[in-house]
Amino acid sequence: MSTVLVTGGTGFIGSHTCVALIESGYDVIVVDNLYNSKKEACNRIFKITGKEVKFYEIDCCDKKALRKVFEENKIDSVIHFAGLKAVGESVQMPAEYYRNNIDSILTVVELMKEFGVKNIVFSSSATVYGSTGKVPLSEDSPLGECTNPYGWTKWMIERILSDIAYSDPTLNVVLLRYFNPVGAHESGLLGEDPQGIPNNLFPNVARAAAGVIECLNVFGNDYDTPDGTCIRDYIHVCDLAEGHVKALDYVATKNGGRYVFNLGTGNGYSVSQVITAYEKACGKKINYKFAPRREGDLPVSYADPTKANRELGFKTKYDMDKMCEDSWRWQTMNPNGLE
Ligand code: WQD
Repeated sequence: MSTVLVTGGTGFIGSHTCVALIESGYDVIVVDNLYNSKKEACNRIFKITGKEVKFYEIDCCDKKALRKVFEENKIDSVIHFAGLKAVGESVQMPAEYYRNNIDSILTVVELMKEFGVKNIVFSSSATVYGSTGKVPLSEDSPLGECTNPYGWTKWMIERILSDIAYSDPTLNVVLLRYFNPVGAHESGLLGEDPQGIPNNLFPNVARAAAGVIECLNVFGNDYDTPDGTCIRDYIHVCDLAEGHVKALDYVATKNGGRYVFNLGTGNGYSVSQVITAYEKACGKKINYKFAPRREGDLPVSYADPTKANRELGFKTKYDMDKMCEDSWRWQTMNPNGLE
């Protein structure tokens, strides 16, 4: 049985990935400092899979504490989700973002080396691509000027892991560049549970549909797109989770190397189209108004997903309607998130 250490495993993408890993026969160990998630996620993982995950409440920057996890378990691979991830917050507190996100990855890779762990999958983001606007984005698209410290930490961690892969050819490094993860597990037991005011579109649409917020702000309707609102590549979080399983299965056949894959659907949806799809899913009109553009937003971003399809055999299964249905079920079953 292959054992995977999932850092940030009680978070939105981490918890869904734990479910997919368990259902694919992996043993899972979760490390999380619960800064932006709740331990209840472990109970939900158990309810869905019938299997306990071994949980450690540890900050990945705490090398002494994290070493204990490597001492107590035979870890074959690491999937590294742990990190601060709010775009807006990163602009307000850049030093904390650089300290936390860079310190944690360095701690993890140092312990991997100490304990001879040879596989790491990193939760990267399409935000590392520059803002050339050329779409679809392939893995060969130029990396460039990130628009916020959060994005720069993803870019820097890709650089760190690439250099480490170069220095140790026996290491398998997989960089997964997510587009826009949305939706929830179809059981309604796991979903996006942002602490504080969410930045992202889907949780805000869900809250507008539920009446938690009075009116959804649509940031800009004067972009050079068919309906004037921004276009993104929304990917169901369960598809994304499956992409991580495919990545681990892939490196199990490799003896070292650096591998980069986009995880997206290849389809772009505008904000207005998301609202229309969500209204269909929830059966209500969503109250929204057009507001000024949000700084740093790209007009259009969506993936060329062919490399992950070709090399990993990864293909997204879920469409926009399913993303909205599952998001709405999560919202109605968990109006206060994971309590
Ligand atoms: C999507 C569109 C907004 C909220 C970010 C990160 C990326 C990844 C996904 C972590 C934009 C518009 C949003 C709202 C709106 N994060 N919007 N009203 O900015 O594409 O990507 O989240 O991995 O790294 O950069 O996603 O959901 O914030 O915005 O109109 O209340 O929805 O302007 O056009 P984004 P988003």
